[in-house]
Amino acid sequence: MPKILIIDDERAIRSTLKEILEFENYVVDEAEDGEKGLQLLSKSKYDVALCDIKMPGMDGLEVLEKAMEISPDTPFIMISAHGTIDTAVEATKKGAYDFLQKPPDLNRLLVTVRNALDKATLVTETKILKKKISKTYEMVGTSGALGRVKQAIEKVAPTDARVLITGPNGSGKELVARSIHEHSNRSHGPLIEVNCAAIPSELIESELFGHEKGSFTSAVKQRIGKFEQANGGTLFLDEVGDMSLSAQAKVLRALQEHKITRVGGDKDIQVDVRVIAATNKNLLEEIESKNFREDLYHRLGVILIHVPPLNERREDIPDLVAKFLNDIANDYGNKPKTIAADAMQYLQGLDWRGNVRELRNVVERLVIMSGNEITLEDAKAYARPVVA
Ligand SMILES: Nc1ncnc2c1ncn2[C@@H]1O[C@H](COP(=O)(O)OP(=O)(O)OP(=O)(O)O)[C@@H](O)[C@H]1O
Ligand SMILES: [Mg+2]
Repeated sequence: MPKILIIDDERAIRSTLKEILEFENYVVDEAEDGEKGLQLLSKSKYDVALCDIKMPGMDGLEVLEKAMEISPDTPFIMISAHGTIDTAVEATKKGAYDFLQKPPDLNRLLVTVRNALDKATLVTETKILKKKISKTYEMVGTSGALGRVKQAIEKVAPTDARVLITGPNGSGKELVARSIHEHSNRSHGPLIEVNCAAIPSELIESELFGHEKGSFTSAVKQRIGKFEQANGGTLFLDEVGDMSLSAQAKVLRALQEHKITRVGGDKDIQVDVRVIAATNKNLLEEIESKNFREDLYHRLGVILIHVPPLNERREDIPDLVAKFLNDIANDYGNKPKTIAADAMQYLQGLDWRGNVRELRNVVERLVIMSGNEITLEDAKAYARPVVA
């Protein structure tokens, strides 16, 4: 049951509120002044607090300010008597969730409390989700090579510079792109990803720039493209080396002029987008063989970040394995399995052509196939796909 704290110096108000709220099955504690209220807040967690503004000693605003330090996730509903409305409004600016007027109207009281509870639940859920997400996107590894990648991320993230990420399959390019976005000033904006290799060349322009209704046979309604969706945030052009030359020309224009036009449209649309691109191709070779525009290459690659193959940074393998053992156990809801030192050494010696992605798959396979500790025998038997 949700717990509610009432802080008010008037006993009559406290008992009326308590009676109403207990009738709704809330658990209610009372405090007759700010001191006592803060004491209770620091001892246990309340889902909502109702707090009078005018009290002898510490007034409601002061209580609110201190409470936001002690228990920042508890929404405060201020109770204002006649003449303290201005203060109540000020309180909401200082972080109070809402305010009620004295004497409190029964329905309004219950609605406000319910809304505050909903908000508190959402805040907690969002925090848990964010933690989960940033954990799954955490980059582990202490090798010098990865250290240089991390340093580069830190430096470029807060700027608006375009970044071109290169590296082999499964080495962590997408992770680098996410990390740049998360550490940038655009982290509150969207991160929109386009896999240029997965989209047929005749559709990529509409995917990137959108289209107007009727601009081609299957364009039955207007569509907003990824550039527009990413407005205020980051656009991640994955596998950019696989983009058609005609799409390349349009992307180049978008980068030069910060403007796009929907397919079949005639209006220029201003976009504020930071572009991060990635590829596992050697773009210089692609330029040589006329598959990639050199001018686009220079536009995209203001900053180049290369993620080295796992075989060149085997020191990262133990940390990666530990992280994957943990992640997988979390997913399955089990205790993480352990791995014997010789098994770890064996893994460190293998040829990781599929890089970190392959390592993760192998760890998952080992977790499924082994006992509580992954042994050298397990590693030898299951690390490589067994060909019958
Ligand atoms: N340093 C790292 N720490 C933790 N996980 C990592 C790291 N590098 C890669 N991974 C994980 O390995 C997998 C592959 O990484 P990612 O998708 O970023 O690679 P990629 O270079 O974009 O691959 P592709 O070229 O195939 O698109 C993902 O599950 C990612 O979370
Ligand atoms: Mg990728």
